[in-house]
Amino acid sequence: MFKSKIIGMGYSVPENIITNHDLSKIMDTSDDWIQSRSGIKERRWATDNVTTSDLAYNACKQTIENSKINPIDIDMIIVGTLSSDYFFPGVSAQLQEKLNLKNVGAFDIKAACSAFIYSISIADQFIRTGAAKTILVVGAETQTKLIEKSTEGRDVAVLFGDGAGAAILTRSDSKSEILSTHLHSDGKHLKDLWMEAPGTNKDSWIDDPINLSKFTPKMNGREVFRNAVTRFPEVINEALFANDLDIDDVKYIVPHQANYRISEAIAKKLNVKMDKVVSNIHKYGNTTAASIPIALAEAVEMKKISTGDIIILAAFGAGFTWASAAIRW
Ligand code: COA
Repeated sequence: MFKSKIIGMGYSVPENIITNHDLSKIMDTSDDWIQSRSGIKERRWATDNVTTSDLAYNACKQTIENSKINPIDIDMIIVGTLSSDYFFPGVSAQLQEKLNLKNVGAFDIKAACSAFIYSISIADQFIRTGAAKTILVVGAETQTKLIEKSTEGRDVAVLFGDGAGAAILTRSDSKSEILSTHLHSDGKHLKDLWMEAPGTNKDSWIDDPINLSKFTPKMNGREVFRNAVTRFPEVINEALFANDLDIDDVKYIVPHQANYRISEAIAKKLNVKMDKVVSNIHKYGNTTAASIPIALAEAVEMKKISTGDIIILAAFGAGFTWASAAIRW
């Protein structure tokens, strides 16, 4: 068995900044309500002519540069997204073409906010077995194109933002490695966070007249919150236990940026200070599959992470799905 490690990261967010004050002009909400419930001050919304594959492409270009690899060495592309440019095919094949990466294997993973860790896990397995050596892993979203930007949709609309982040994983011959990944799901919560249409279920297709409400994400915020604050610490502890690590061994926890209050609850349950929990939600909101790679790429860019540091990634989202990855940098 081989091991894998992350050798470079990158990210891209749209230029278009939407503040809480901007939102309060188009729906009944306020800066105070949004900040106190979520910690979000502003987020980026992709404009009409910016797609998920555009943001993914920019993040990947930067990632390839930072990794100092020859792009020809990339064996596979895995993209976590639930807001692909088209219903099918996924973003991954578009990226293959935009990046001109020979005819490599490319596929999308639709595991919502957990999709980046699911994708890291898959890449790690391919590299461990020797079936692939170098894999481009991406989380990219323009979910705000789907949300209902009105008072009816305000509980969802104020939380989400757009962006993309990426990592290159390659075979490791040093102590740097993906130590473990743990993936979970519980489908009974399907309707607590979902977008019904377009789907092939007979109720989830085009009605006459069209029920546009089915084409926007819906969320049972309290149920999501209640499950998230349990599952995040649980899956982080699972990573610690699997690697015989103590929370004090961990330099940073990089959680999916769902909500600052959820991150605070994680820190409280794990009995750590908030400076161990990476957070950028105040400026980007919840960018679904992109949030972990953006937060991790920013931490790397700010030189907060050094070789040998133990980093735990953790996610929770629609499905419900949840996951963790333990990394020795
Ligand atoms: N602005 C102003 N008021 C809002 C609002 C908004 N954007 N969204 C909802 N409200 C209102 C509600 O209508 C409700 O009004 P009412 O009391 O008159 O009925 C009131 O605020 C309280 O709503 P409630 O849903 O009880 O708020 P909350 O304290 O549970 O916070 C969330 C709502 C969504 C912020 C919270 O449940 C949450 O963070 N959930 C997890 C969401 C998440 O992380 N999702 C992504 C997971 S990957």
